[in-house]
Amino acid sequence: MLSELPSLSAAFGRQRLTEIFLRGVGGGLPRVPVDAQRLADAAMEAMSPEAWAYIAGGAGRERTAAANEEAFDRWKILPRMLVGVESCDLSVDVLGQRLPSPLVLCPIGVLEMVHPSADLAVARAAAGLGVPMTFSNQASVPMESCAAEMGSCPRFFQLYWSTSDELVESFVARAETCGCAGIVLTLDTTQLGWRPRDLDLAFLPFLKGQGIAQYTSDPVFRRSLTEPPAGPGVGQEVRPAINHHSLATAWQQVRRFPGTWKEKLSGLPRAAAQRFVSTYSRPSLCWDDLARLREMTELPILLKGIQHPDDGRRAIDAGMNGIVVSNHGGRQIDGAVGALTMLPDVVDAVDGAVPILFDSGVRTGAHVFKALALGADAVCVGRPYVYGLALAGRTGVEEVLKNILAELHLTMALAGCRSIAEISRRCLVSETGPLKKGRS
Ligand code: GLV
Repeated sequence: MLSELPSLSAAFGRQRLTEIFLRGVGGGLPRVPVDAQRLADAAMEAMSPEAWAYIAGGAGRERTAAANEEAFDRWKILPRMLVGVESCDLSVDVLGQRLPSPLVLCPIGVLEMVHPSADLAVARAAAGLGVPMTFSNQASVPMESCAAEMGSCPRFFQLYWSTSDELVESFVARAETCGCAGIVLTLDTTQLGWRPRDLDLAFLPFLKGQGIAQYTSDPVFRRSLTEPPAGPGVGQEVRPAINHHSLATAWQQVRRFPGTWKEKLSGLPRAAAQRFVSTYSRPSLCWDDLARLREMTELPILLKGIQHPDDGRRAIDAGMNGIVVSNHGGRQIDGAVGALTMLPDVVDAVDGAVPILFDSGVRTGAHVFKALALGADAVCVGRPYVYGLALAGRTGVEEVLKNILAELHLTMALAGCRSIAEISRRCLVSETGPLKKGRS
């Protein structure tokens, strides 16, 4: 795979620094802020209040989101000197694929709120750097259109297990046809978390027909729109007032619904939003259900949302092929443990049986280094690339990813690591106590 993917120069970090500073000699500033906080602040200015709330927001008082970032601060990098690191190799093997770097893009839904090119811009940027993209179940663009932009760059599909197994099967089959390297089953969102930023705006994008492109492009879902609802859906007892807000929402649903004007004006767009709400989540999902997904596909299945070491072991027993240690960027439960805090325990429990990916709180190249040191095989970046998208579309996504990769590269070189394999727990010290033994 690597031979067809863009490779990163062995001096990528140094080159990126030089490029930015030399452009500065001619008065040019970076296209998007390099500093993670300034990037977020600039994106907030560029985004609508609703988009910002949805993307940046977390559950409750957002203590989990804060804990995710604080968890990184409790580990400190301990550099080694005189190692002679002239070049660094960022390439890794994940699920049998050689990748140019250990970065993967998190699935993030409803990107049309952020930029008109939405997922397509992200797919193009990802492919340009050979960074795998995870297509969101709640994408604004069908997975087929994104896959068509990505050439040989690996991609995954993130699945929410809906109430319809037939729909799940259809999504999985489409992911196979799109050349996905795996199904990332998200376990922590069997229902939406309590997110005050969205609640205070009383705004859920899906009700406007945003972020449901995987559904409206799906033959099984489309067929279901003309069938009577299976039962009373959540919230059907509430009738929104008929006024200019609800009419604007109806218009948005019609505008976004793919199809002929006859279909658009036939009530299908409203049915799609309603059907989505009654279908998308399955709170009853449990370990026994995994066997059905295993039967549906031979693609690797990765379980996303694992934080407890026992759940890690159980994933292996259930025949799963990978784990994503994650708490959904703090969007689901408030007051939960920072995801990085649990990474070493899950790594030890899994003991190398399957690859472990990590997300939640990753903002910088130094964060990526720490997650790798604690045993992640690859590290997923989420909100920062969306901020780049908000500011400069595809270019913004590329700039953010290049900055994270450059910082990772320089951190490796300065810490004395010539390859990702050389990044281990020995590169870190913990502020909370002595290092545990375990995979190094
Ligand atoms: C999932 O779709 C989310 O909003 O986090």
